[in-house]
Amino acid sequence: MANEGYTCIVLRNAQHTLAEDVRQGLTASSKWLPCKYFYDPAGNALFEQISELPEYYLTRTETAILKSHAASIIERCPSDLALVELGSGSSTKIRYLIEPCLARQQELTYYAVDISPVGLENGTRQLLHDYSRLRIMGVVAEFGDGLRYLASRAGGPRLVAFLGSTIGNFTEEEVARFFTMLRRHLRPMDRFLLGVDLVKDPAVLEAAYDDAQGITAKFNLNILARLNRALSANFDLATFRHRAVWNHARHRIEMHLVSLRHQRVRIADLDLDIEFRQDETIHTENCHKYFREHMHSLLTDHGLQVLGHFSDPQDQFCLFLAS
Ligand code: AVI
Repeated sequence: MANEGYTCIVLRNAQHTLAEDVRQGLTASSKWLPCKYFYDPAGNALFEQISELPEYYLTRTETAILKSHAASIIERCPSDLALVELGSGSSTKIRYLIEPCLARQQELTYYAVDISPVGLENGTRQLLHDYSRLRIMGVVAEFGDGLRYLASRAGGPRLVAFLGSTIGNFTEEEVARFFTMLRRHLRPMDRFLLGVDLVKDPAVLEAAYDDAQGITAKFNLNILARLNRALSANFDLATFRHRAVWNHARHRIEMHLVSLRHQRVRIADLDLDIEFRQDETIHTENCHKYFREHMHSLLTDHGLQVLGHFSDPQDQFCLFLAS
C-alpha cells in the first residue's frame, strides 16, 4: 500500500494466532485472553475515548511530559535521527518528537509499528498533511517482529519510542525478553524512549480502569464481541461484567470479565463449548505500575544505559531515555 510520503508493509497478521490463543486461554483452569485482542477497529475507537477520560490520567500526563521535555530528549540523541514508534496507535504523541527533529534536520523518516493497519493509516494521514518534510513507513507487525525487521535495514541513528505505559501490559518474562531483544537490536548510536506509569494511590488507579461513564467496561467487553464476530462465538455480553482491581502484591491493575451466571458459550469456528460458573472470570489484562528505581534497574540490568528520566510535577508518570 502506498500514497505520497506513506508506505506500509505487513509482516504478520495477528488474526492468524487468534484462534489458537483463544482455545488456549479459555480452556485453561483460570481462564484468560491476551489483551492484544482488544484492538480491533471498535476497540481502537474505545481506547481513543479512554485516553480522553477524566479518570485516565496516563495519556494526558505523558503528553504533557513530552510537550515540556521533547526538545531536551531530542538534544540527547544523535543528529539525522529517524523515529520508530512501537505500538503507534493513532500516532498522536509522536508529533511532539517530530517537531524538534524537523527543527534540526531537513527530512525525517518515522517508522510506525502497530498490529492494526487501519489505525496506522488513520493516524499517519494527518501527520503527512502537517509535516511536508516527513516520510512515514507503516509496519503492520507485533513489536518484536517490527523491531527485528527494522534492525535488518541498515540506516542512521534511530530513536525507538515505546510510549503509553504499554510496557505495563507485559508480564515480567515479556519485559525481560523485550529488553533483551532491544539490547540485541539497538546500536550504540540508537536511543530508546520508554513511557512508564508509576505506582500511586490505588483509588486513583482503580478509577482510571473503571471509569464512571463505563467506557473501559465497553472496551473490556468488546473482546467478547470480537470473538463473536471473528470465531462465530455466542457470548451474551449482558451476562458478563467488567472488573478492575488493584493487586497490591504484584503492583498491577487486573482487568477481568465476570460471568454473572452459570452458562455455556459455543465458539463454533473452534468447535468448542466453554462452561462458566457464576462469578468465574476471564482475566483479560494486567496493567503493571512501577517504582522509578525498579524500572531504572530493570533497564540497566538488561544492558541499557539510562541517559535521563522525565516526570510530571505530581510524579504520576515517567519517561526514560536510554541507550
Ligand atoms: C494500552 N495500555 C497501556 C492501556 C493501559 O493503561 O494499560 C490499556 C488499557 N486498558 C484499560 N484501559 C486502558
